[in-house]
Amino acid sequence: MSKYLLKVGQQAAKRLDVMNQAFGAHSQHFLLNLGLSRGMSVIEVGCGTGNMTTWIAQQVGRKGKVVAIDASAEQIAVAEEKLAQAKIKNVEFICSPIEELVFPKHQFDIAHCRFLLMHLPHPEYALFTLERLVKIGGIISCDETTSDVPYSYPHNPIFDEINELHLQFGKRRALDFQVGYRLLSIMQTLNVDILNPRFVQPIVDLALAKQYYYLGINESKDTLVEEGIFSAAELDDMLARIQAIPESAGGYFAFPRQAQIACVTRKRETQ
Ligand SMILES: C[S@@+](CC[C@H](N)C(=O)[O-])C[C@H]1O[C@@H](n2cnc3c(N)ncnc32)[C@H](O)[C@@H]1O
Repeated sequence: MSKYLLKVGQQAAKRLDVMNQAFGAHSQHFLLNLGLSRGMSVIEVGCGTGNMTTWIAQQVGRKGKVVAIDASAEQIAVAEEKLAQAKIKNVEFICSPIEELVFPKHQFDIAHCRFLLMHLPHPEYALFTLERLVKIGGIISCDETTSDVPYSYPHNPIFDEINELHLQFGKRRALDFQVGYRLLSIMQTLNVDILNPRFVQPIVDLALAKQYYYLGINESKDTLVEEGIFSAAELDDMLARIQAIPESAGGYFAFPRQAQIACVTRKRETQ
């Protein structure tokens, strides 16, 4: 497992909440269209601070169950707190990188991940693991970024600059921040039938976009400086420019295009 780029636990919680404000409704629509419903068993990998976990657990209800996996104990601690506050009891957390996960085969109706594969050096291997975890005829659903075509209206070059920085950072770590584009072809290597693949691109107001990027740059500041990618002064300047983005009436931001690709697993001759 490679070193995770962002902060975890309480230091990441606000950014992930803001991200969920932008993507949550689209992610929920994706899973409901795939048939997520009461009584199902779902495994969510890279659950983070539990925003989707909470919602999935509510959808499957008391007769259903959710297993939520994350490599970070700090993320899981925040997620557990969120679930306790919502009095949700049908979730089991496992702290493990997906690469080291030991779990019996074919247990789940749905195996899901969102914004996980971009952080993995071998996303293909994770997909292979998800295939093993779901029942025959179960669903694998991935909601993953392409880090492409962010758009601001009126156009503001700072968003393009930040996106370019983000892509460069991924390349330095040999991570594919555009994994959303490869997702369909990776899934096609599994023994599955693909279900209604699509891209979505949430539109939010400029205030939410500013908040998201401010939190993200601030969180990655130490790593960016440590790795000599930017000086602290350059990053402070970037943060000041984010804060200065005018929030004109009618202005909006479209987050990078997100791939929502799912498939249903087929029976293997040898199973
Ligand atoms: C960008 S966050 C997304 C969190 C959540 N899926 C969401 O959409 O709010 C990525 C999460 O993946 C977790 N992660 C990174 N590498 C992982 C790995 N190898 N195995 C499991 N989880 C991992 C991180 O700890 C982090 O919580």
